[in-house]
Amino acid sequence: MQSIGVYRKEFIAYLEDKSKIKEPINLYQPITYILGLGGKRLRPVLTLMTAEIFGTDYKKALDAALAVEVFHNFSLVHDDIMDDAPLRRGKATVHEKWDINTGILSGDAMLINAYQLFENYEGEVFRSLAKLFSKTAIEVCEGQQYDVDFETRDDVTIPEYLKMIEYKTAVLVGAAMKMGAIVANVSEESQNDIYEFGRNLGIAFQLQDDYLDAFGDPETFGKQVGGDIIENKKTFLFLKSLQYANENEVKELEHLFSIQPEDFTEKIKTAKSIFIESGAAQRTKEEIELYTNKAFEVLKKLPISEEKKMLLQKFGEGLMQREV
Ligand code: IPE
Ligand code: IPE
Ligand code: MG
Ligand code: MG
Ligand code: MG
Repeated sequence: MQSIGVYRKEFIAYLEDKSKIKEPINLYQPITYILGLGGKRLRPVLTLMTAEIFGTDYKKALDAALAVEVFHNFSLVHDDIMDDAPLRRGKATVHEKWDINTGILSGDAMLINAYQLFENYEGEVFRSLAKLFSKTAIEVCEGQQYDVDFETRDDVTIPEYLKMIEYKTAVLVGAAMKMGAIVANVSEESQNDIYEFGRNLGIAFQLQDDYLDAFGDPETFGKQVGGDIIENKKTFLFLKSLQYANENEVKELEHLFSIQPEDFTEKIKTAKSIFIESGAAQRTKEEIELYTNKAFEVLKKLPISEEKKMLLQKFGEGLMQREV
């Protein structure tokens, strides 16, 4: 086993080796741009780590890891168009730097590139990877559609929200890990257990993403702080505020989340203070811990050494502490 830092480094070296700008430049440059902006590389690291945890050389999982990261970045390019987001990883989003059509087409090419990477696997491994990927990718689309639908709905429930984030985010984290397990050729039971671990961690991860969207440090967060409030996203913070805030605050929040003011500074300020005063921010923190612990529970079932379980647990704990 290597350290997380080593997997990240090896993955980035592989990514750089594979990213070549071809003609037409306007198709490929945005792809190299977004993939080169960095990010945490969480999903590919999980794919590589899982392969080794199950006793296989991580190098065999590099193409699956790259497919997952390319798909993730594709989803971000399109997500930033849909969310009207100006910033990604501290830099201009693709549709801001180029234009919306560029974001659409470069994104499409990335999705196809992700599929192509599975062609580097043979037989049953290829079949399993491609099947899992297709299932996951369509669920991500479903999650993204719920997310958009919820912007204009005022009756979103917590279970609906949880399903939405499971689909738009958590299934890809689960799939990233399951791919490592598929490459390692382990039993279906272990494949499913590691998927469950990743899925629960992914739910915690998206809850934290929502939390940071409101309360992250603008200097370091890399995205527009308050973006979800501007877009009327029905996050856990918002939904819990409706449950916990007093009647006047609920009315105010509902009003704020039905409008799109020119100047959104006041909207963000008021929403954030209600999130805190109502206790919803605190509840979100607790929910993050709850799902992280659910992930840790799944670990107990896995037929791997205690040392390897500790590595996965440390990874999960690190995610809870993250600021970006
Ligand atoms: C952002 O994912 C989109 C979500 C699913 C929350 P990350 O927070 O993993 O983004 P990068 O790749 O590290 O920038
Ligand atoms: C994004 O969720 C999920 C996908 C890209 C599939 P968000 O919209 O919350 O992600 P960020 O906050 O823009 O990274
Ligand atoms: Mg977004
Ligand atoms: Mg979004
Ligand atoms: Mg977000």
